[in-house]
Amino acid sequence: MNEFEKSGPAVPGAKTADAKTSRTVAAGPAPGPAAPAATVLDVRGLTIRTDQGRALVSDLSFSIGAGSRLGLVGESGSGKSLTALAVLGLLPPGMTASGSVVLAAGADGPGAEVVGASEQRLTGLRGRAATIVFQEPLTALDPLMRIGGQVAGPLRRWRGLRGAALRRAVREALEQVRLPEPDRIIRAYPHEISGGQRQRVALAMALACEPALLIADEPTTALDVTVQSEVLALLDGLVAERHMALLFVSHDLAVVSAVTDHVVVLKDGSAVESGTVDEIVRRPRHPYTRDLVDSARHLESALERIVR
Ligand SMILES: Nc1ncnc2c1ncn2[C@@H]1O[C@H](COP(=O)(O)OP(=O)(O)O)[C@@H](O)[C@H]1O
Ligand SMILES: [Mg+2]
Repeated sequence: MNEFEKSGPAVPGAKTADAKTSRTVAAGPAPGPAAPAATVLDVRGLTIRTDQGRALVSDLSFSIGAGSRLGLVGESGSGKSLTALAVLGLLPPGMTASGSVVLAAGADGPGAEVVGASEQRLTGLRGRAATIVFQEPLTALDPLMRIGGQVAGPLRRWRGLRGAALRRAVREALEQVRLPEPDRIIRAYPHEISGGQRQRVALAMALACEPALLIADEPTTALDVTVQSEVLALLDGLVAERHMALLFVSHDLAVVSAVTDHVVVLKDGSAVESGTVDEIVRRPRHPYTRDLVDSARHLESALERIVR
């Protein structure tokens, strides 16, 4: 029996914060159908160490149910990106993860353990079980290849499309992320389109995998403020339409609170607080969370912008 079966499905909206060392938050499904949602990601006691043994992430636990959204928030260097990478077994060389990271491998099947999994096993999970959109869309794109060819990659791989059907699907994928003039974008190289357009392309490629879980690591941080809110609104809509689960990573609580319903606050690699967005924004308990709330308010009056 693996960790996934032991822990069972996430209870809607359930939240436990246990005694001293580890805190757990479970982002349940949105209110609606009564059937309990399957867990798409279950992280238990995740610890990430350098090759010298220094812990950069310590004893982190959280879970995400199908179709629900969890924000991971904390200042720069708090361990958010390493956590996101560990979920996909993508830690930089020399770093090791311990604890457990279980991804749902199929609709109803048992989950798959990522920690210690072979590269072959990980390749089978990446894309379908979970995929990631990074802060800098150029990292996801090949500078020497036209956009059309790059978007075709996952559509060919995941949906088995070829020829005219593939060309149609590429165009549709770009239309779904509301890219104007998709025919021009298809022929363009990454440097010929704007940063916001590149992030839409990266999102189109991630969505083409039809993942159960989308991980977005600071997906709008590199964009201008107006473009940032457009891309956030797009992400919000697409995740809802497709009933995808979302792990949204950002240093900016205002941004996190606009797209997620539960939040884990990370400081120096440890969770210091977790709860619903509403609880965290209205009644932060930890001084660090209070600072994040203050700076979010200061930046953009986060409270007015809570849409969920
Ligand atoms: N490849 C690496 N080698 C050594 N230390 C790293 C590496 N990547 C990240 N770190 C360190 O791990 C900590 C957490 O990093 P990261 O997860 O990128 O933070 P965040 O995404 O919250 O800004 C930081 O102290 C960072 O310096
Ligand atoms: Mg980061």
